Amino acid sequence: MPEQPRKMLVTSALPYANGPIHIGHLVEYIQTDIWVRFQKMRGHECYYVCADDAHGTPIMLRAQQEGISPETLIARVKKEHEEDFARFAVAFDNYHTTHSDENRELSELIYERLLAGGHISRRIIKQAYDPAKNIFLPDRFIRGACPKCGAADQYGDSCEVCGATYSPTELKNPVSAISGVTPVEKESEHYFFKLADFESSLKDWTRGGHLQEEVSNKLDEWFDTGLQEWDISRDEPYFGFRIPGTKDKYFYVWLDAPIGYLASFKNLCDRSSLKFDEFFLKESSTELYHFIGKDIIYFHALFWPAMLEGSKLRTPTAIFAHGFLTIHGQKMSKSRGTFIMAKTYLDHLDPQYLRYYFAAKLGSGIDDIDLSFDDFSFRVNSDLVGKVVNIASRCAGFINKRFEGKLSVENHNPELLESFIGAGEKIAMLYKSREYARAMREIMALADKANQYIDEHKPWVIAKDPAREAELQSICSMGINLFRYLLLFLKPVLPVMAEQGEAFLGIKPLKWKDIDYPLYDHTINPFKPLMQRVDKEKIQAMIDSSKDDLLKNSADKANSDSGSLVKNAIADEITIDDFAKIDLRVAKITRAEYVEGADKLLRLTLDIGEETRNVFAGIRSAYQPEDLEGKLTVMVVNLAPRKMRFGISEGMVLAAGPGGEDLYILSPDSGAIPGMKVK
Ligand code: MSP
Ligand code: ZN
Repeated sequence: MPEQPRKMLVTSALPYANGPIHIGHLVEYIQTDIWVRFQKMRGHECYYVCADDAHGTPIMLRAQQEGISPETLIARVKKEHEEDFARFAVAFDNYHTTHSDENRELSELIYERLLAGGHISRRIIKQAYDPAKNIFLPDRFIRGACPKCGAADQYGDSCEVCGATYSPTELKNPVSAISGVTPVEKESEHYFFKLADFESSLKDWTRGGHLQEEVSNKLDEWFDTGLQEWDISRDEPYFGFRIPGTKDKYFYVWLDAPIGYLASFKNLCDRSSLKFDEFFLKESSTELYHFIGKDIIYFHALFWPAMLEGSKLRTPTAIFAHGFLTIHGQKMSKSRGTFIMAKTYLDHLDPQYLRYYFAAKLGSGIDDIDLSFDDFSFRVNSDLVGKVVNIASRCAGFINKRFEGKLSVENHNPELLESFIGAGEKIAMLYKSREYARAMREIMALADKANQYIDEHKPWVIAKDPAREAELQSICSMGINLFRYLLLFLKPVLPVMAEQGEAFLGIKPLKWKDIDYPLYDHTINPFKPLMQRVDKEKIQAMIDSSKDDLLKNSADKANSDSGSLVKNAIADEITIDDFAKIDLRVAKITRAEYVEGADKLLRLTLDIGEETRNVFAGIRSAYQPEDLEGKLTVMVVNLAPRKMRFGISEGMVLAAGPGGEDLYILSPDSGAIPGMKVK
């Protein structure tokens, strides 16, 4: 029985507008995109919307750091995000931003309704405040020693060393990550959403079949601890929407972020014949699905349905949470080169590999999924190149050369064909329930069957016997048909390969219902290889350039004025021999001067005993030339000379700090003599 066409709206979480898309994010966008493509192939009316999450303190500070307006920053990042998604074939029906008119209007509407319903309270609270920068500090922007294990330089909400969570007031020796000064406590009035008003309906909702079981269980723990009021306001300065009726209070980014789902859809409705109300009125019979990572369940499974209910809008049909990506069993790591940005991946590898690999690993639960590069190349090479594409390439040549591209009029092995057709519904059910890994296994089992069939019938042998022409055509036509089924089953995962395969087969875009119509008496086109094998050297190159990205990023940060937001990662371990290669000497700065046309550089003349060196150092924002003359410092004397626009730089002086004004030349104690080796 075919399903009745349904109307559904699907979302993925909105990525923050202050950083690039990385392959961890892609787990979610690929998972959602596969599901949406599947629903569309099944003939449902399905819309996939998303947006950049553009508000909040980190985005505001990042823009300040770069010396641009937040609007400029978020416009640039949005463009980058959209490019990355498009290249990974993540096909949104709309990609918007939370900093939009639609989102402002909807946020105000929802807030006004909550307020009218008596679900908003106000009270004065104390918070950490940076007296140098005049800004309240979010937990993440306070650093200090962990109250539990004493580890230095930890964030205000949790310790990366021992995993403890705490409030920033518990940190020892806290400092503001923005200015480095000690925060003070300051009072201000905040607005709260009274989550507990919705306790009983939330209890029903979270057990009402809208969530995965492990997620419902997790929520029980939160019900046990009691539902706290949720702080939804932030003080100026803040990049966001001002709360109606206030002068200097803003909606906390997490209030307007999920409303961004509605706003993106609203934006789509306004540009098409879709009706917003049909999807969001309380009595709506359409479906609403949110795909999210397990880290943001609380916001989506408690706050969000409560906000919707409180503002008399429909609640989600289901929320699908997924686990986190690990690489070789560990968190993505900048120093190991496994913090791979989408763009870096794309510089080296085919995006379809990653789509297939994630599909081959994803289930419907919230377990983390692990990427191991050996496994990655093995699966792609053996499944996609070795099994799927291979079938087409084994049969297409004969059909094209011997039969002018024409497939036979009858079916060589009805039973085999039936088994492919019969598998369709099972595979569909697996896609529907997000059991992609199991779906991929089913499909690859069919690919094995298809290859066995070709192996048994050996078209390359039959081809030598002129009396068996018809049989040859029939067998190869069967092979091409089996390939077409695999292509159809894989299409949600591999849309680009599917499109190329459709061009090769000379057919219209495959829909799920095409399962019932094999190709007979049909002409195909010449075959071109549909996928290359994974080249392991390219994987290595991608890891190497991810390490370079790290260096580039810290250089960028060092060049900007307040790099102190950046946590320095410890570089990879080196041996004592590596270290010994660096020839460090005491040097005396005999002259320091401005360089015309270079606003970051000073030209230093350095006396290192037997010779003098000319070095261009990026320390102009931190030092006046006259402050440096006569000073001792430490320099690398065996660094390869570097040709710069202004002359040749013959070494490097050592300085500490993030950069800009915040930079400190290293100097030996007095008594050291120019030319002395530093050990
Ligand atoms: N802006 C919020 C979401 C607001 S939704 C109304 C946010 N943004 S995010 O950029 O940090 O993450 C976007 C999505 O990507 C989240 O669902 C998050 O769980 C997911 N992932 C981010 N890193 C991930 C991995 N390493 N692995 C898997 N998913 C990850 O949260
Ligand atoms: Zn700790």
